[in-house]
Amino acid sequence: MSKIKVCIFDLDGVVVDTAKYHFIAWKRLASELGFEFTALDNERLKGVSRMDSLNILLEIGKKTYDEETKIKFAAMKNNWYVEYITRMDESEILPGVKDFMLLLKKENIKIALGSVSKNAMSILNRINLTEYFDSIIDGTKVSNAKPDPEVFLNAAKELKVIPEECVVFEDAVSGIQAAINANMPSVGIGSPEILTKANKVVAGFVGMDLSILEF
Ligand code: BG6
Ligand code: MG
Repeated sequence: MSKIKVCIFDLDGVVVDTAKYHFIAWKRLASELGFEFTALDNERLKGVSRMDSLNILLEIGKKTYDEETKIKFAAMKNNWYVEYITRMDESEILPGVKDFMLLLKKENIKIALGSVSKNAMSILNRINLTEYFDSIIDGTKVSNAKPDPEVFLNAAKELKVIPEECVVFEDAVSGIQAAINANMPSVGIGSPEILTKANKVVAGFVGMDLSILEF
């Protein structure tokens, strides 16, 4: 029997494929600033806060700007991103996610969101998934982005469990590191070549059963 009481889901790239919209929006900014931004570069931005992402992007493009300009760029990127996500609906929930969540509910395992995105609530509402979560910790509630464990530790605290009773589902290297820093086991969603530090790595949620919670 698994001792897991809470499953914490990252949002972007785990529940929905918004990672692609973040990428397209950052790529658009890079192109306006005159440099290339690749999918491999984008791995470094996953799970990272908006401003930290911008700083990494500018480092890649070898560009320096003052704070005011950077705030303007971050707002531009976010406006493009919001344009993409307002077109989303339930059909964008990644395959198998909802079935797995229903399985967890049947077993009385709690479901939490652990995302540093400030757009998380608007996405959850658009895809009609808000009510599936027993706890929602997003970018409006934390001050430290992943790999800081704050977002996951807050979820555990809110649901009154210890970190070892949680499991984190993550697509980002920084998110897996945040789980390690929180002392929580993790399931990487994506490629084992990238998510090398996850306890387990799967391609997605299709066919997932409770054996995934055995570590
Ligand atoms: C994370 C994404 O979930 O949220 C990052 O993986 C993103 O790519 C971060 O930068 C912050 O998102 P937002 O929506 O607040 O800009
Ligand atoms: Mg993610």
